[in-house]
Amino acid sequence: MTGSFHSRGNYAPVADEIDAARLPVTGAVPPSLRGRYLRNGPNPVSGDARHWFSGDGMVHEVRFSHDGVHYRNRLVRTPWTVDPTLPKLADDGSPDLTRSLANTNVLQFAGSTFALEENSLPYRLGDALETLGPWDMGGRLSTAMSAHPKLCPATGELHFIGYAATAPYLWYHVADATGVLRHSVPVTVPGPTMIHDMGLTKSHVVLLDLPVVMTHMTRRQPSFAWSDDYGARLGVLPRGGTDEDVRWFEIEPCYVFHVANCFERDGTNGPEIVVDAVRFPELWRESSQRFAPPSVMWRFTLDLATGRAIEGALDSRTVEFPRIDERLTGSPARWAYAVASLDRDANAIVRYDLLGGTDPVEHDLGPGRVPGEPVFVPSAPASTEDDGWLVALAYDTARDASDLLVYAAGDLPAGPVATVHLPRRVPYGFHGTWIPEPNLEHH
Ligand SMILES: [Fe+2]
Repeated sequence: MTGSFHSRGNYAPVADEIDAARLPVTGAVPPSLRGRYLRNGPNPVSGDARHWFSGDGMVHEVRFSHDGVHYRNRLVRTPWTVDPTLPKLADDGSPDLTRSLANTNVLQFAGSTFALEENSLPYRLGDALETLGPWDMGGRLSTAMSAHPKLCPATGELHFIGYAATAPYLWYHVADATGVLRHSVPVTVPGPTMIHDMGLTKSHVVLLDLPVVMTHMTRRQPSFAWSDDYGARLGVLPRGGTDEDVRWFEIEPCYVFHVANCFERDGTNGPEIVVDAVRFPELWRESSQRFAPPSVMWRFTLDLATGRAIEGALDSRTVEFPRIDERLTGSPARWAYAVASLDRDANAIVRYDLLGGTDPVEHDLGPGRVPGEPVFVPSAPASTEDDGWLVALAYDTARDASDLLVYAAGDLPAGPVATVHLPRRVPYGFHGTWIPEPNLEHH
């Protein structure tokens, strides 16, 4: 083991795959909460990895069923879980998009479940989390799919990007609701950068071109570093648009891993696009092993009439992993949720009022209890925006154990209404998704 933070404590991987039924619960699981919470994260089969981001993907499932709450975890099986020595680049120097870490996010789309990692193809998972294999959309997808595609709640379309080490460095794609790739265009940017997320509004797509620049290729993934020269810009193009349609808005240099939401509104000069995101003032200047300085909730307002961006902080808390009620992706969502941290020891879940301007509220889990990304689950398909629950993993340092917390989203400070005690710790990871029960009907 190395001395890296990601090889110790709850960053360290778990060794096995298990199933556990009827887990103990403190409190009461809401009777209408039925479905599966899936969360992806790095779990290097070798026991260690070069970087926190480069471990093999493992998906943890907590299933809320009529007969209780159940757990399972499975590795996403890729060429690298069979032969960890394979290089990312094939013999011809191009990236092998099937060699995926598959460790970043979970996507439910077009009737299937996918494990995503931004330099590779999606990996399809079966209902028991078994790996079914990479998905290139019937041979049509020739680039990576980033780990944060945007699903349009109105059309069911998937808007996504892929980025690459060689020109064209950035691609924009749209798949229809059945998973057929309908639109693939290259987008001109000055160089290869790390592009982790994107934005979607009712009529537009927002692209990030920020100064964390690819420096070289390691065995499994590109390496990146901050650049004082690259500049920073947000690109706006109409849904389904092409390279010529992109308008770039210069912003202060920064890095954004995660967009909370984007939407359109009428500003003083005319139409504007609002981009609410978690912003780092810089990232990886000295080393990609450190994430300081801290990241805060930030608003970029892009004035389509003047071509100018106005930006500023919405709050001073250090946060990451912002989420909204995804039925409102691209619309003015009022509430966003995130993990708040003090120094490097995250310990609270916070809720922002992005439209009403009231002060954020939070639930502090207490010393040594570290929450993961909160995911919003509507109480019913047509429920109002905060009528539902938040589910989030929490690691308890003292017990070396993990729980799944269930909050009433509208009353976060009251604390969890249910705490599901998991049979094993779940290593710190990245993103999760909720799959409602109708998708389980064929079981
Ligand atoms: Fe992410």
